[in-house]
Amino acid sequence: MLKPQQIHQSRFIRNLLPFPSQFIHGFSTLAFLPLHNSKINQTRKNVKLVFRPTPVKATLTNTTDKSVAVKATVVAKQTVTSFIKNIGIQQGLDEIQDLLGKTLLLELVAAHLDPKTGLEKKRIKGYAHRVSKDGSNVKYEAEFEFPADFGEIGAVVVENEHHKEIFIEDIVFDGVPNGTVSVNCNSWVHSKFDNPRNRVFFTNKSYLPSETPSGLRKLREDELLNLQGNGQGERKSSERIYDYDVYNDLGDIDTEPTKKRSILGGKDFPYPRRCRTGRPRCRTDPSYEKWEEGFYVPRDEAFSEVKQLTFSTNFIYSMLTAIIPSLEASILDPDMGFPNFNAIDELYTQGLNLPTLDKKELWKSVLPRLIKTVSDEAHSILRFETPETLDRDKFFWLRDEEFARQTLAGLNPLSIKLVTEWPLKSILDPETYGPAESAITTDLIQREINEVMTVHKAIDQKRLFILDYHDLFLPYAERVRDLKGRALYGSRTIFFLNPDETLKPIAIELTRPPMDGKPQWKEVYTPCLHSTGDWLWKLAKTQVLAHDSIYHQLVSHWLRTHACGEPYVIATNRCLSVMHPIYRLLHPHLRYTMEINALARESLVAADGPIEKIMTLGKYYLEVGSVFYDQHWRFDQQSLPADLISRGMAEEDPSVPQGLRLTIKDYPYASDGLLLWDALKQWVTEYVNHYYPNPSMVEADQELQAWWTEIRTVGHGDKKDEPWWPVLKTPKDLIEILMTIIWVATGQHAAVNFGQYTYAGYFPSRPSFTRAKMPNEDPTDNEWRRFLRKPEVALLECLPSQIQATRAMAVWDVISHHSPDEEYVGDKPEPSWVEDPVIRAAFERLHGKLKQVEGIIDERNGDCNLKNRNGAGITPYELLKPFSEPGVTGMGVPNSVSI
Ligand SMILES: [Fe+2]
Repeated sequence: MLKPQQIHQSRFIRNLLPFPSQFIHGFSTLAFLPLHNSKINQTRKNVKLVFRPTPVKATLTNTTDKSVAVKATVVAKQTVTSFIKNIGIQQGLDEIQDLLGKTLLLELVAAHLDPKTGLEKKRIKGYAHRVSKDGSNVKYEAEFEFPADFGEIGAVVVENEHHKEIFIEDIVFDGVPNGTVSVNCNSWVHSKFDNPRNRVFFTNKSYLPSETPSGLRKLREDELLNLQGNGQGERKSSERIYDYDVYNDLGDIDTEPTKKRSILGGKDFPYPRRCRTGRPRCRTDPSYEKWEEGFYVPRDEAFSEVKQLTFSTNFIYSMLTAIIPSLEASILDPDMGFPNFNAIDELYTQGLNLPTLDKKELWKSVLPRLIKTVSDEAHSILRFETPETLDRDKFFWLRDEEFARQTLAGLNPLSIKLVTEWPLKSILDPETYGPAESAITTDLIQREINEVMTVHKAIDQKRLFILDYHDLFLPYAERVRDLKGRALYGSRTIFFLNPDETLKPIAIELTRPPMDGKPQWKEVYTPCLHSTGDWLWKLAKTQVLAHDSIYHQLVSHWLRTHACGEPYVIATNRCLSVMHPIYRLLHPHLRYTMEINALARESLVAADGPIEKIMTLGKYYLEVGSVFYDQHWRFDQQSLPADLISRGMAEEDPSVPQGLRLTIKDYPYASDGLLLWDALKQWVTEYVNHYYPNPSMVEADQELQAWWTEIRTVGHGDKKDEPWWPVLKTPKDLIEILMTIIWVATGQHAAVNFGQYTYAGYFPSRPSFTRAKMPNEDPTDNEWRRFLRKPEVALLECLPSQIQATRAMAVWDVISHHSPDEEYVGDKPEPSWVEDPVIRAAFERLHGKLKQVEGIIDERNGDCNLKNRNGAGITPYELLKPFSEPGVTGMGVPNSVSI
């Protein structure tokens, strides 16, 4: 259920507010007024006076002798956006209209056609008049004479006669013969002056298409057509049209041609589709769309006002527009690295001076974790919080065991996989990339595991694991190295599973393709006691950690959750009516994703944006994601069980509780994830079985079939011919598909998102950028001598520069936040779920189970036998604990991908 304060707001507000909107959090509109002109203030004061107009009786168009009185109560919200938009002459007109009681025209639609005529029963119309205003809550009421033969209310049509949009939370009809009827709206209703088409809201009762009451069938179809639009023209911010497009809008190439990036989506660079905005085409290349501030998202996809005013968009936007440029201005040499590790520590103790930061008082409030007060107030200081990992153990990042442990319980637990074939071999073209055979030999592995078993026995016993970043990154190594100050390799890292379920890294192979007239170069590094070998091992680990960091952000996080999820949002809104029970099941899991993705396209992952600047891949960042999507992404492997099985990290076993036997039992992401999966699956199963008691109903559900077809053939249309798409014929098929979508939006996104500052906030432990090649890759005599003389310098020169590191830390800090109104999975039911006793009971079971999951995870973290999550200085694995406080907490699973 949406919380009372959840009013969706356009990013339009950013351009209107004279200062960060954080400052009007908890505002009253009157408190906001002194900032504007006195005439408006006067108007508002007048409005504040209580004036109750005589109730306007509804016009009854179909009266009978047996009519009853029905009262409709409309709860609307006065928002910062609507208030600001209303400033001016139109606000005055709207206020007058409100007082006259002629601002919201309601039309009640009968659920069933007239049995005698077969036509729609005459609608009951009436104006709602404003009766009270309490803070941001505005209440309107209407009275109707309700004919006894009208029957069940199926929908209400709203005409907004204000000059501006209004946010309607819900409409409740009291006095209806069969009991109170609720209509949960939570939506913006446009002004009739902007769009003459009235808004339709259906009651909270869910219907499959075939069960739609006769009086609502046409409205149901019309409303879907309205949401689909006609694919033409530029979308306006007030519209609610959902459509698809490719990623061709990442930079304004007319003014800055260097911002031209490969178009993602299509034959050359397959990619999931994004929301169509219809912006004008670029003059210099019409296959690109112009970049303009404020990307369109359908009106109801905008963030809630609380989310907007406090965190998320505002946070990110504030940081991008003020903090990062100030950082860049403060660190004059963009290539300057850290002179020593003490200088890195000082980021958390003394901070960085930001002398150029304007409005510092404001930023201190917007970003309190980052911007600190200094005694003389002359400077702003960007001082980072000490990440929990570093706080618990200053030397955590140096230990091999921690490097391995984090592949199971860190920020990216989605890459580690079982070695099933030997020897290791690349599938890249050897003509271009050099010999395909790995330099990690059988003898080398056996030596590193002290000959306790042969390689083949280790593989048979499932004891060898790999992080394989060889074939994904190697084809980009030459192009990335051609960019200034970057080093990139293909890499493979082998781990051996100890009897105590911990992993030990035993070999790292780094490969550079043939380039600059030199042949392929590859080297295998192993843990070493001698200083030279030990430093080379440390440096090789740094390269792999950067690969893992890039893969995490590019694939595990952005591609697999944010980008792949957007087509689900679009298809669900285009194909499933809001009265469809599956729409109502999915809606909380799809909310806000389009908004955060639009913001990311507009700024974070835009051409030359922060992500390109903090990732080694630079301008090839998203393009590499397209390669992964093309070669590896499969819908049928996105559910937690299927993902684990595909990586050899689990196998099906009906005899164990969740039907899966983990290859490494102490695999915190998997074992906690399965608890969450299990609870959600029970809920989804009960829900689906309730609405589809007969298996054939799934195949017969036309909306549902259209939805699945559109996801496969349009939203993920570049993969439409893949044979692995699941069929959708039975409730079981539907449950699996829904669970995949819900899991990605909940557990998977939480696991890879909310620990970003915890695990990457100390950047030597997870650099996202490597500036230097290995000291032993074709070194000059001088380079090698320099390394031997002071190897620490080689490491500092490889790690990100000051500006790269601090930019990244600021981004990780901001996107690790939970908003104060975060909606956690299983926390609050949707209104339609509450009205059905079966669904309500199922939801209560889900809520209870998730509370238990919290306790189980706490117990596991306290168990000293689980060495991958318990030990001296080890950060407990809490990322899949369902609930959390606001802020950077390293736990909490929100309903949707919303940051
Ligand atoms: Fe995210």
